[in-house]
Amino acid sequence: ELGQYRHYMQKEIFEQPQALANTLEIIAGGGSVNPQLFGADASGVLNGVRQVLIIACGTSYHAGLVARYWLEAVARIPCTVEIASEYRYRDSVPDPDTLVVVISQSGETADTLAALKHAKAQGMGRTLAICNVPESAIVRESRLRFITRAGPEIGVASTKAFTTQLAALALLTLALAKIAGRLDADAESRALNGLRHLPVAVQKVLELEPEIEQWAQRFAAKHHALFLGRGRHWPIAMEGALKLKEISYIHAEAYAAGELKHGPLALVDKDMPVIAIAPADELLEKLKSNLQEVRARGGELYVFADAGSEIVESEGVHILHMPEHYGMLSPVLHVIPLQLLSYHAALVKGTDVDKPRNLAKSVTVE
Ligand code: M6R
Repeated sequence: ELGQYRHYMQKEIFEQPQALANTLEIIAGGGSVNPQLFGADASGVLNGVRQVLIIACGTSYHAGLVARYWLEAVARIPCTVEIASEYRYRDSVPDPDTLVVVISQSGETADTLAALKHAKAQGMGRTLAICNVPESAIVRESRLRFITRAGPEIGVASTKAFTTQLAALALLTLALAKIAGRLDADAESRALNGLRHLPVAVQKVLELEPEIEQWAQRFAAKHHALFLGRGRHWPIAMEGALKLKEISYIHAEAYAAGELKHGPLALVDKDMPVIAIAPADELLEKLKSNLQEVRARGGELYVFADAGSEIVESEGVHILHMPEHYGMLSPVLHVIPLQLLSYHAALVKGTDVDKPRNLAKSVTVE
């Protein structure tokens, strides 16, 4: 079953181009985004939505955090993202015009399911599940659904489920933008082309594996790591830190780079590697000054930069060049090297990659 791969996690990382192509098959032949992608009665549910509430756990929560940037910037719909175990016990204010989006690979995560039921019990009937398992409890409980077609994910660390969730959330963003009259035909066709080209773009990033493997050799000896990102790549920094903790047992934390001065900079010294997500976007200059602050304290930098980022390699500054800047969908590409980094760090450390200690693939108890 594993074929040329050593672990399911590695196999699943490399299956991402295919998983994305399958998930996006519905838009493959041209055409346009329409609400029916989310279910037959989607128009009725999506029309009149005033805000979006995304609920999930772990990696699926990080996908939701990325989507918040998209939904607000492209569809201009206010969005909040909540950890399921917090939402379900919080005395929140229900709003029937809110679209509740639950994201789950398994569709069986106890807290996410309970949070969905909680929202419904409070009168929030506009519900959508983004899920990888069609017959799951979460899908059955939701009015609308989008089934990602990642295929079975066996490794405990979620990889291809995450990138296909992002693809689904990008489609949702476009559908809501269209309903709100904020997506003209040109913008729609550009966005759809970006999505259609994603599998190829991901494939190119996967080719960086040998370089990342070398970085991982150095990483494996570390006890701590700090991940920095800004904007829609901040959740990608969070996802990178989660992956590193989960399978290589290296303590990692993620920060919005602008928060560095408000505390974590005190931790930076020569033993604290700092991983930075540095896409060539509108926040790059801000990020660069954060990186200078790290260097000034002797912190070693590992930077994932896009072509065009103009960050130069120097002592203590290691750069890995991503093939291209990918605009709104850039988080889908930037998570790939972080998955590979944690995978290879785990290999060097000899941990049980597919079944990390203390964790279950599907968390069906509280
Ligand atoms: O099946 P779900 O997407 O609901 O699972 C949520 C989390 O348990 C899951 O993403 C977890 O964080 C992963 N092991 C992270 O790699």
